[in-house]
Amino acid sequence: MLQEKITQYTAEINAFSTDHADELEQFRIKFLGTKGIIKDIFDEFKAVSPEEKRTLGKVLNEFKQLAEAKYQSLKDLTEVADTAKDSGLDLTLPGEGFEVGARHPLALVRREIVEIFNKLGFIVAEGPEIEDDWHNFSALNFPEEHPARDMQDTFFIKKGGEKGDIALRTHTSSVQVRMMEAGKPPFRAIMPGRVYRNEAISARAHCFFHQVEGLYVDENVSFADLKQTLFYFVQELYGEGTKVRFRPSYFPFTEPSAEMDISCTICKGAGCQMCKYSGWVEILGCGMVDPNVLENCGIDSKKYSGFAFGMGIERIANLKFEIKDLRLFSENDARFLKQYKTSLI
Ligand code: DAH
Repeated sequence: MLQEKITQYTAEINAFSTDHADELEQFRIKFLGTKGIIKDIFDEFKAVSPEEKRTLGKVLNEFKQLAEAKYQSLKDLTEVADTAKDSGLDLTLPGEGFEVGARHPLALVRREIVEIFNKLGFIVAEGPEIEDDWHNFSALNFPEEHPARDMQDTFFIKKGGEKGDIALRTHTSSVQVRMMEAGKPPFRAIMPGRVYRNEAISARAHCFFHQVEGLYVDENVSFADLKQTLFYFVQELYGEGTKVRFRPSYFPFTEPSAEMDISCTICKGAGCQMCKYSGWVEILGCGMVDPNVLENCGIDSKKYSGFAFGMGIERIANLKFEIKDLRLFSENDARFLKQYKTSLI
């Protein structure tokens, strides 16, 4: 009898909800008031048999706690609702939400490159963006009259002087020199950073862009090591089955030098606009560090050999995301940047 009542009222309490203070007050009077249901039930309880008391006692207490807890939680709710009403707030309106930021596509690509080379034991090194002639050119075996030193390409900050020209670095190869001068072999590092060239800004050229330089110097480092390292890198970055090919080239700081192409990631070699219908796209320059460069940095070129490579991050990003206009990378257009949302932090 009593048990049935409790069951019925429990259902009623569980189903009850309001954010109106007056309805809640009715609830309080009905259940918790001095003449309320709980008081009645407790009175009835006094009359039940001792055996029943033992089992019903617990049930009764839980019932009372339920009614009190319900009242308290709804009281908090009605108070919040009242405050909101007083201040003209409408809590039923949907929230504004938080916009999650996005990583810059160049930052995403740089991180991916760094992670791949980290797995091969390459550390990350950095150097200054304002460089002297020695680190940017002379130590890297650039002849005195090399066109890259020309005003057309290089942003000079100071011409001449005791230590020679001061300029914005034109490539991250300068960091190779700083690293080798400062330490002892073996060296195994990649060096990401911003570089500057005096170019008119267009979809295909910019006055600043980003590179990642790589350097590996030790005893008995060979061109085969270079090929295998870069092959591994390409498989990791663009997926297994991506082909590579090396073409002979020239850089003052490497001998022999090569440029590396990969099978076009867009058309998979079938031919498209990206690869100019050749099936191949160039992604980096590389070669065996010229012994002159090693010697310029105080390293015994008879004992040590090494390879180096350099790639443009924009180019790599271009192939990954098909971003055709270089200017997008530095315009800070939120509509562009928002597309590169990632779960990576
Ligand atoms: N520094 C070259 C550039 O800016 C890229 C490069 C080519 C770097 C060959 C290297 C290399 O380390 O071995 O175009």
